[in-house]
Amino acid sequence: MSAFDDYLATFDEEQGYLNWAAFGPLSSSVRDEVFADADLLASGRPSSLALVAERVAQAQQAVAELLGGDAADITLQPSSTHGLMHAMFGLRGHVMAGSAEFPSVSLTLERASAASRGALTPRWLTPDDGRITVDAVAEALDDDVTALVVSHVDFRTGYRADLPALRELLGPQRLLIVDAVQSVGVVDADYAAADVVVGHGYKWLRAGRGSGFARFSATARERIAPVLSGITGSAAPGLPVDDLPAPSPSAQAFTVSGPDTLAAGRLASGAGDVRTAGVADIEARIADHVDTIIELADRQGIAVTSPRERERRAGIVALAPAEPARLAAAFANAGISITARGASLRLAPHAGTGQATIDLLAQTLDAYGNSPFTNL
Ligand SMILES: Cc1ncc(COP(=O)(O)O)c(C=O)c1O
Repeated sequence: MSAFDDYLATFDEEQGYLNWAAFGPLSSSVRDEVFADADLLASGRPSSLALVAERVAQAQQAVAELLGGDAADITLQPSSTHGLMHAMFGLRGHVMAGSAEFPSVSLTLERASAASRGALTPRWLTPDDGRITVDAVAEALDDDVTALVVSHVDFRTGYRADLPALRELLGPQRLLIVDAVQSVGVVDADYAAADVVVGHGYKWLRAGRGSGFARFSATARERIAPVLSGITGSAAPGLPVDDLPAPSPSAQAFTVSGPDTLAAGRLASGAGDVRTAGVADIEARIADHVDTIIELADRQGIAVTSPRERERRAGIVALAPAEPARLAAAFANAGISITARGASLRLAPHAGTGQATIDLLAQTLDAYGNSPFTNL
């Protein structure tokens, strides 16, 4: 079996699961890791505890390989939102973000602005289609802007932002802060364009909650001040007692307390599996599934609001059916898991999504398309 086949064999979620953009059912390897690490922690033996503590460095290394860059620049966080808080609470000037971004971006920026007492002003981008394109940013850009915070892949439409082009537009004097929750591990991107990248392990990496991470480049570490930091973020080795050391010059300045080693083990395992299988192959398999889903929707005349070009999308297909509630009910009745929000239904397949799930989706869409309009 190839490494990719081995990877596919770690998927064993129920048939009909098309909700990977919300939650990734844990892989069999992550589950094995949890049980093994929990047993080690239960013994209390110093060598066993030390072994589990090594998961932190292993997770940093695995994430560094997915994002590119040094393991030392990776911090482990309880969630991606925690990573965004570390980045945004130290920003000044005008900071751009889409008003319809996932609230981890928009609400955090608003709170950081309130805490700054006038030093940080949000500059909201409100493009009609919600897409943070290079043109949308260029239109609102001026000399007061110090940073852009953007989702690499939009959680609603699946629109994939053009990071290298945004970097070029912003120039070296502004920070590019990227929420890569919907892309890490499934989009073969060059994250070097970003100064800060945050993500987590509980969707596409199939590693469960508590597995956030954030990478801070040297430029980000230099410019983000003051730091929102804690006892693990100081320049002093060990525990600073009766001493108030400066923040660490490393990315660890953006951490609060000791990481959850069980979560680190899950993240190391989930990210490691992806690295071994190959992000490019995973991306290609997901793109095939997305093509199929778009084709099935087209066949029934259901509007697709996600981009159709492979390079501008990832694993999310947003549908805008004429009768969203009826289609959502049809999916639920068929045992198909998706996310329904207002008039939009979001479907998200993964590389391991099987033919049985695609067939079930096709049958359900056919039945939806063929049943007469009812208005009871
Ligand atoms: C784009 C995006 N950012 C952030 C989050 C929230 O991540 P976390 O729970 O790690 O804070 C989500 C969750 O769905 C998301 O889709």
